[in-house]
Amino acid sequence: MSNKKSHIIAFCNQKGGVAKTTSAINVGGALKILNKNLRVLLVDLDPQGNLTSCLFRNKEFDYTMYHVYTGEKTLKQIIQKHQGFDVSPADIEISFLQSTVDLGNYFILKEQLETIKDDYNYILIDCPPSLGIFTIGACIAADQLIVPVTCETMSLKGLVQLLKTHEDIKMRHNPDLEIMGVLFTKHDKRQKIDNQVLSMNLGELKRFNNYIRKSVKLIEYVSSGSHVHDYAPGSRASMDYLNVTKEVLQYG
Ligand SMILES: Nc1ncnc2c1ncn2[C@@H]1O[C@H](COP(=O)(O)OP(=O)(O)O)[C@@H](O)[C@H]1O
Ligand SMILES: [Mg+2]
Repeated sequence: MSNKKSHIIAFCNQKGGVAKTTSAINVGGALKILNKNLRVLLVDLDPQGNLTSCLFRNKEFDYTMYHVYTGEKTLKQIIQKHQGFDVSPADIEISFLQSTVDLGNYFILKEQLETIKDDYNYILIDCPPSLGIFTIGACIAADQLIVPVTCETMSLKGLVQLLKTHEDIKMRHNPDLEIMGVLFTKHDKRQKIDNQVLSMNLGELKRFNNYIRKSVKLIEYVSSGSHVHDYAPGSRASMDYLNVTKEVLQYG
């Protein structure tokens, strides 16, 4: 281990399409590029399994996060190795658990991560587009949140709701939970609204200095089975995620 402490970071925003999955994969890839000795675990917590299908194409797994949530397997038992990462896959099966009201479900991820977190420098959790058991469970387990927001769908109302959830979880379950920052994604400099959003005053809310520009490479890389740094090294998409990831590393 090159760092003593492990960092558990959840990518969350109840909105879909804001680049949670894209950011989890490409911050993960950038961590490995900036320091190949870092041990990184990617946790897919979205029933849509986009992170899993992006990295593994259409491969199916016998065991996924579903089996972790039902207690059939430990998180360690379902971890797959992929291009220098560890990945815990998800698929549609975990959506069956979303409607259960068993309060214990909220703590499963935290309990499981406690048992393996010392094996990793960074654990990145890709949350679904909702504030249900998986996102709340991720917030209970995490040290920090990264909140991707697209300039075009930037909604203060949505952010306020997320901040309220953050405060609630902080107060009740996880007093050390921090928001590392709002991360602006899909920025298009030709759009006036995008520039206005970038220069918005977010008050107390932290934000990343760097932001992610709109790039077709971040659509195309998905079929490559890797991250954008492999697919398009030197591209602006890769540079943007490398710059954001430097901020993540500096965060400590
Ligand atoms: N900077 C970007 N420029 C262009 N397309 C992007 C960018 N970031 C993400 N996308 C695309 O937007 C879509 C939604 O991104 P995704 O990461 O799946 O969002 P979420 O996980 O929040 O639902 C995907 O098709 C992805 O390839
Ligand atoms: Mg997603």
